[in-house]
Amino acid sequence: MEHQTIKYGLFLGVLISLLALSSCYNDNYQDLYPSAPCDTTSVAFTNDVWPVINAQCTGCHSGGTPSGNIRLENYSDVVVIAKNGKLLGSIRFDSGFSPMPKGGAKLSSCTIAKMEKWVHDGTPKN
Ligand code: HEC
Repeated sequence: MEHQTIKYGLFLGVLISLLALSSCYNDNYQDLYPSAPCDTTSVAFTNDVWPVINAQCTGCHSGGTPSGNIRLENYSDVVVIAKNGKLLGSIRFDSGFSPMPKGGAKLSSCTIAKMEKWVHDGTPKN
């Protein structure tokens, strides 16, 4: 009986340390404070999507020879990868897609939720 309790305690200890360790992995506001509101009620390109793309993606995906031959310089560029599934596949690190931003940290879960909502809503511009 006592032996069982000790084993259980050890198991819990290991579980808690693992959880604590993994929580350091994504150092961003949403993941550190999951109770912070993630407002996905109305998501539009101009206010929600473009600032992220412009800051995280356009550096590689612009100019004469954009990475992966994918240009992300404006609304219609981004709609192309939204419609063909590559935007969500790459930012969610889904298998079968190249994880984006390449070599960088995964976008916050709130940002990803907003992108999902935007695609789901039919890529509204404003
Ligand atoms: C450091 C440069 C770099 C950044 C930053 C970057 N990409 Fe990429 N991206 C690439 C390269 C290079 C490829 C070609 C595939 C590969 O080499 O992984 C690519 C490919 C892609 C693809 C095609 C993936 C596939 O599996 O077909 C998509 C979609 C994409 N990027 C979207 C994005 C988005 C969205 C962002 C911002 C969140 C982003 N990229 C940021 C370099 C980058």
